[in-house]
Amino acid sequence: MTDRQELQHPRFARQYLKIAAGADRRGAAEHRRRLLDGLTGRVLEVGAGQGRNFRHYPDSVNEVVALEPDDTLRTAAEQAAASAPVRVTVVAGEAGQLPGKDSAFDAVIASLVLCSVGDPPAALAETARVLRPGGQLRFYEHVRSPRPWAARLEDAITPLWRRAAGGCHPNRDTEAAIRAAGFTIEQIDRFGFSFAALAPNTLHILGTAIRE
Ligand SMILES: C[S@@+](CC[C@H](N)C(=O)[O-])C[C@H]1O[C@@H](n2cnc3c(N)ncnc32)[C@H](O)[C@@H]1O
Repeated sequence: MTDRQELQHPRFARQYLKIAAGADRRGAAEHRRRLLDGLTGRVLEVGAGQGRNFRHYPDSVNEVVALEPDDTLRTAAEQAAASAPVRVTVVAGEAGQLPGKDSAFDAVIASLVLCSVGDPPAALAETARVLRPGGQLRFYEHVRSPRPWAARLEDAITPLWRRAAGGCHPNRDTEAAIRAAGFTIEQIDRFGFSFAALAPNTLHILGTAIRE
């Protein structure tokens, strides 16, 4: 489990409020809509940030528990929850120790978060624990480039990048991590996306994995 204080990134959080709004205007809003399309039942969103997904939950969802460790982002998420189309309860916490009993959720959402958690295998093991058998992990993540030269560049910039960007690692092979955690990938789209005008176009994955 990551120490609570290590998960506070107030400067990055203030920047991310603007960056994420801009990314949504460039197409991320549509990615978020696709991420959540058709969900039903009880949903846990891990590392929900300021709650930019909340407006996209379909009304077939009964309840969303939105976990966010950063105080600045969680405050913004509480405001977003107030106008969400479904019931959203925002809670403090972190991916290594998820709220809820075993099999408590029908779906878990990982949206641009597995790049940032301290221990992805632990986060995915917790995800499998709280999902019911047959439950869905819906993921939307930027991931390591398949091009060796670009992946080496991502490795090189990661130490600096993670300090500047709230712990984000641009070089993670999150699809492999999801498979290694025992999930079956049912559907996956892979596409390039640039979150801002001057930002590089990086590989993203968006899809559904099943907890067997
Ligand atoms: C790039 S932001 C993405 C926020 C949001 N999910 C979105 O789609 O815009 C990364 C998020 O991961 C959260 N995070 C970082 N480490 C975490 C951890 N160990 N457990 C849960 N969330 C974490 C951060 O606080 C931040 O909200």
